[in-house]
Amino acid sequence: MTKIIAPKGTKDLFQPEILKWQFLEARIRQFFSRFLYQEIRTPIFEHSELFQKGTGSETEVVQKEMYTFRDKANRSITLRPENTPSVVRAIMENNLLTEIFPARFFYIGPMFRYDKPQKGRFRQFHQFGVEIFGETSAEVDAELIFSAFGFLNEVNLEDIEIHINSVGCPQCRPGFLPELQAAAQKQQNELCPDCQRKTSTNPLRIFDCKKQQCIDISNQFPKITDYLCQDCHDHFQVVQRTLSTFEVPFTPNPRLVRGLDYYTRTVFEITSGQLGAQDALLGGGRYDHLFQELGGKNIPATGFAAGIERIILHLDKIPETKTSIIFIAYQNAAMKTEAIKLSASLRKKGLAVFMDYNDRNIKKQFKKSDRVGAAFTFILGEDEIANQSISVKNMKTTEQTQIKREDLDQWLRKHM
Ligand code: HAM
Repeated sequence: MTKIIAPKGTKDLFQPEILKWQFLEARIRQFFSRFLYQEIRTPIFEHSELFQKGTGSETEVVQKEMYTFRDKANRSITLRPENTPSVVRAIMENNLLTEIFPARFFYIGPMFRYDKPQKGRFRQFHQFGVEIFGETSAEVDAELIFSAFGFLNEVNLEDIEIHINSVGCPQCRPGFLPELQAAAQKQQNELCPDCQRKTSTNPLRIFDCKKQQCIDISNQFPKITDYLCQDCHDHFQVVQRTLSTFEVPFTPNPRLVRGLDYYTRTVFEITSGQLGAQDALLGGGRYDHLFQELGGKNIPATGFAAGIERIILHLDKIPETKTSIIFIAYQNAAMKTEAIKLSASLRKKGLAVFMDYNDRNIKKQFKKSDRVGAAFTFILGEDEIANQSISVKNMKTTEQTQIKREDLDQWLRKHM
């Protein structure tokens, strides 16, 4: 029989790597609560229409990468490729904007894209992200970037760069797009086949191409920042000024347009010098029109999402959080019930306890105690039962002492 293995682009997580995940998730919750974000959890699958409308039907994500299928009632369902449209849907559907202030949310969870797997790129990957609703000011965009940068610093990520740009708004973008298209058409034959197609469908997406020939050509294209309307121009200036106030280093990058269609004004990405081709650790920006595009009111919004696998690739050492384990050994089957009772009472006190229920001899139980890395082995034998005590072996020093049952709590307070 052929072995069943995990689908391509997915991975199993277990120790020691999973300790990094737990560390990161705990830090995310801690760190972003300083900015008053509340957690939101949305379903892993949604109606496909949400992403077609929200993420944008012309984007690579929607065109090529979605896991879409029909359910038994013939509805088109998609495993979420990103969470921003889902969060907007959830907020509209549950009327959260009237209930929660500030309307700031964070999430952690799996996303799905049928991408070509490689280092730092998976088909099931995980993002943490934050979304802010109802806050229009440019300073908020800067604060968002400050928080993203601050978080990466907090978990000691080095060698990172922040790129920012403005992609304008529906007022100024129409002035830019024909100029961009004209420039692209002039050099169409030198672009890769994919970018040749984008020339007529969505020329902005040419800037997403990673092929050197297309990068060299598009570097000569007109820059969107030269076409911004006064409001978008001023907004972008304030973002940059406030980033300096926050002491966040950044590089304006006129090529940065992001691969999703909903952005307006500020966009940004944080890249790593250590990741190779998949260098984006996180990305985001303002999306003031997504609510309306999904049938809601006019609610400004801004946010970002980070790839957890990519951050984990960077995390070398995490602080050790060692729990002391107690192993309970018993001399023979007659003491088993007492041993089980002792394990239950210790676990109720919040301690990490392990025992082997197979009536093995004490020597073998000590071996097991060593294998689980116990700090102490508690031994229950005939003597201990008779005189209401426990023998305690310190597994590091091998020193053995006896404690009275009535003194157990005091001993635990001192040693655990
Ligand atoms: P995105 O740039 O598509 O933005 O994804 C954000 C991050 O997810 C990327 O920077 C990368 O670290 C990670 N990522 C994306 N695809 C993969 C993959 N196949 N394997 C591993 N990691 C991956 C968004 O998703 C937007 N929703 C961000 C946002 C939130 N904008 C506003 N609010």
